[in-house]
Amino acid sequence: MKLKFGFVEEKRPASLSPVKFCHVSHLFIASSRSDFRAQGGPNSAELAGMKTKKSRVSQARRRSVEVSPQPTLDAGILTLLERDHRSMKELMAKLKDDKTNTKRFATFRKLEKLLHSHMVAEEKALLEPIKTNPKFEDEAIEGLEEHEIHRVVIASIQRVKDPDRRYVRMRSFCEILTHHLREEEEELFPEYKRLTAKVTRRSVGRAFLKTRKKTNSNRENLGALDTVATSR
Ligand SMILES: [Fe+2]
Ligand SMILES: [Fe+2]
Repeated sequence: MKLKFGFVEEKRPASLSPVKFCHVSHLFIASSRSDFRAQGGPNSAELAGMKTKKSRVSQARRRSVEVSPQPTLDAGILTLLERDHRSMKELMAKLKDDKTNTKRFATFRKLEKLLHSHMVAEEKALLEPIKTNPKFEDEAIEGLEEHEIHRVVIASIQRVKDPDRRYVRMRSFCEILTHHLREEEEELFPEYKRLTAKVTRRSVGRAFLKTRKKTNSNRENLGALDTVATSR
């Protein structure tokens, strides 16, 4: 008899009774109750109990996703970096749409904080450790230098008092940052993925998240800190 597990169909091992099999999985949906009972499956009371248990499990899962979007420790470094990148791109798009200088400065402040935390964590977990590896040396050193340019330009933006001039610098900075993110995504990340094992990327991801959490000064958990899923 076949039992359905979410999206996967799996055969019940002969060593397990249908009830034990259900208890192990919690996700089981009997394809037909009557078929199931005819083959020694659970009675109505057992089915009701399993249904309640299943609903308690799914409620708990829902709550854990809604209330606490904690990053999973299994997320690989590339997944986490790209999530940060995506948040930065969203903030840059918002900055472009913002109509007042007050809104623009608030958006830029958020972007700047996210970028600061991202750069520190990216350097510590990824760029510094790989910069002596001949396979990644060029991209890592280029990345580190570009981070320094970001810091210099951000400091220059903070010094400008005139709002219009400040906005022009912010827009120019976004072009520099967009170029940097694209280069990482198109050159460093695919190469790093090709030459490293998944277990390495997960362990580097854990180190990255540790520093990201420590250096995050935004109120919201943006990018990698809002990660709830998969690894790469
Ligand atoms: Fe990055
Ligand atoms: Fe970077």
